[in-house]
Amino acid sequence: SAAEKGGYEYFMLKEIAEQPQAIADTLLGRLSERGEIILDEVRLTDQDLRDVDKVFIVACGTSYHAGMVAKYAIEHWVRIPCEVELASEFRYRDPILDRSTLVIVISQSGETMDTLMALRHAKEQKARVLAICNTNGSTIPRESDAVLYTHGGPEIAVASTKAFLTQLVACYLIGLHLAQIRGVMYADEVAAVVERLSQAPDNLRELLDGMEDVRALARDLKTASTILFIGRHVGFPVALEGALKLKELAYMHAEGFAAGELKHGPISLIDEGTPVVCVVPSPAGRGVMRDKVVSNIQEVRARGARTIVIAEKGDEGVRAFADHLIEVPHTPTLLAPLMTTVPLQILACEIAAARGHDVDQPRNLAKSVTVE
Ligand code: AGP
Repeated sequence: SAAEKGGYEYFMLKEIAEQPQAIADTLLGRLSERGEIILDEVRLTDQDLRDVDKVFIVACGTSYHAGMVAKYAIEHWVRIPCEVELASEFRYRDPILDRSTLVIVISQSGETMDTLMALRHAKEQKARVLAICNTNGSTIPRESDAVLYTHGGPEIAVASTKAFLTQLVACYLIGLHLAQIRGVMYADEVAAVVERLSQAPDNLRELLDGMEDVRALARDLKTASTILFIGRHVGFPVALEGALKLKELAYMHAEGFAAGELKHGPISLIDEGTPVVCVVPSPAGRGVMRDKVVSNIQEVRARGARTIVIAEKGDEGVRAFADHLIEVPHTPTLLAPLMTTVPLQILACEIAAARGHDVDQPRNLAKSVTVE
């Protein structure tokens, strides 16, 4: 009913709007005043976590995209090798696992069969399994050695939105926690990231207030035959997530690419007017990645693409290459997906609605996939 949707037309829009709160709730009680990470609830001892020499992250769909972002954060902060794998592929290729492997399984529902089977395989091989899950008492956390719950609240729409952002937060917390107890980051370095993480809910509120343009853009794009998404570094999983949302909800062809891969083939897809959504990294620091993506934008534009550019507020240099510019608040590089994903969620939702689809219940899909 309308009341259940809190005045929004769809659960998805309600859940998108709830994201600042969902992030705040997921951080609540897990940060000390001195900017340390407190994860006592995760029942793995500090010694267990010090013994870890390899991390696997295993998940499906949107949760897998959260895992891709986590790999960048964990390897950068913790300096241990981390692999991300689709749960449906994991056990069939006989991955190398032992007692010192930490397997992080990510699942909103906690009931996804592919992820559950991967988790059982990891346990048989004696790996330690830590679940990131949004559903209390569901099967995946019950069978794992430890769990970190995301406090996103119930997600009704089939398309994952607030669950994704809270999964990112959980991954950041785990990464920082590992770095802290293994002594690879100084306390003030952890505290600096924590500080920025705590600002995410406010930044996101600001972002959500400025999304009117994206709605108009969606009406414009609803008849496109394909929409491409490009990104680099953590912007790459964001591009994949933007494309997944669009396929799932709007039943349109969409694909996400690592921006640097375009020239190795996919750039042939670009034709006069092909919409390309470009996720631009922050120009902060030396801005090396940002400059690379900007030249990728120039490449697609030179071939006729219509560019929809997601960039940090204040990055004036991108304007010249953007047919449509969507600005997001400044965030450190690794945390940027908390911002850049959101316009893509809204874009997919609005395009689907403009095409007359049931946004909350897309055809052929279920909220949790309990078959392999
Ligand atoms: C995302 O919008 C999807 N509906 C889907 O990819 C989902 O993320 C995937 O099925 C995994 O679900 P889970 O997080 O509940 O395990």
